[in-house]
Amino acid sequence: MGEILVTGGAGQVGAELARLEWPAGVTLHLPTRSELDIGDAASVEALFAARRFAAVINAAAYTAVDKAEAESAAAFLANAQGPAHLAQASRRAGIPLVHVSTDYVFDGSKDGPYLETDPVAPLGSYGASKLAGEYAVLSGNRRSAVVRTAWVLSAHRGNFLKTMLRLGASNPQLRVVADQIGCPTSAADIAAALKTIALAMIEDADAPTGVFHFVNAGEASWYDLAHEIFALSAAAGGPVPAVAAIATVDYPTPARRPANSRLSTGRITAEYGVHPRDWRAAVRDIVDELMGPLPQTGA
Ligand SMILES: NC(=O)c1ccc[n+]([C@@H]2O[C@H](COP(=O)([O-])OP(=O)(O)OC[C@H]3O[C@@H](n4cnc5c(N)ncnc54)[C@H](OP(=O)(O)O)[C@@H]3O)[C@@H](O)[C@H]2O)c1
Repeated sequence: MGEILVTGGAGQVGAELARLEWPAGVTLHLPTRSELDIGDAASVEALFAARRFAAVINAAAYTAVDKAEAESAAAFLANAQGPAHLAQASRRAGIPLVHVSTDYVFDGSKDGPYLETDPVAPLGSYGASKLAGEYAVLSGNRRSAVVRTAWVLSAHRGNFLKTMLRLGASNPQLRVVADQIGCPTSAADIAAALKTIALAMIEDADAPTGVFHFVNAGEASWYDLAHEIFALSAAAGGPVPAVAAIATVDYPTPARRPANSRLSTGRITAEYGVHPRDWRAAVRDIVDELMGPLPQTGA
């Protein structure tokens, strides 16, 4: 099948793409950021001039949501210009582009999980830059899929799960926001979904394109998620602080966040046969990886 370019290979999702098993005949090219800066058009052009790829998966992004409020140019360079460069290069090469986006394109005012077709209205710079990236991808390469995900968790880099365990180790009580709801999602499960889409798009020039949502099944508040993390931590002999539920207004941040981040995954299931598992099972696997095998539960 050939070589797939994976950008952002050192990130949560990129690292999980690298860990997956790929079919015989598929290799990954995982340049570091210093080898390929997607915001630099010349850097992207030079890479495509030097190598032939079968597809591109863009897992690179500027993901510092709060910092993006003060650094919107940097966020747009990585999240909008970068995808535009990849869209152009992949279109010229005649290959598909699978791009990762975010729940932060929505304002969170919907009552219920968001569909791919729901109106977008980002609340901050990060969401706006990611939305611009979506448009760049969809308009730049007809053979493209934009996969929006949310609340990404893994055993590496920084994320809510790791922050909770770190803070929980030195604080007897933590305050966690209970009035934002979303879908906690494993980076490994996102990677598997991206793999399914990329391989199908390589095989079939008419494979479904456009926007898809992928998150783990179910829903939780950050408070619910913290509760689950520390229940697993307790079982593994790790930290178990008391967790107090607070409101978003009591935890001010530079960037506003959507109160409702739930994403409906019906389309990716219908078009690509991807069936997300429950978020609790995904969180359990990550705690397992960080803290050692947990005791089995249930029958
Ligand atoms: N994290 C979440 O909760 C979340 C939620 C919804 C959607 N998403 C989306 O999911 C995708 C993956 O997120 P993640 O959590 O895996 O992110 P991450 O861990 O922050 O990794 C992003 C990677 O992109 C690299 N990168 C940044 N700018 C770049 C550039 N100009 N050129 C090349 N590489 C660059 C970073 O390099 P450095 O190592 O040098 O920083 C990092 O390795 C992103 O599209 C993100 O917007 C994430």
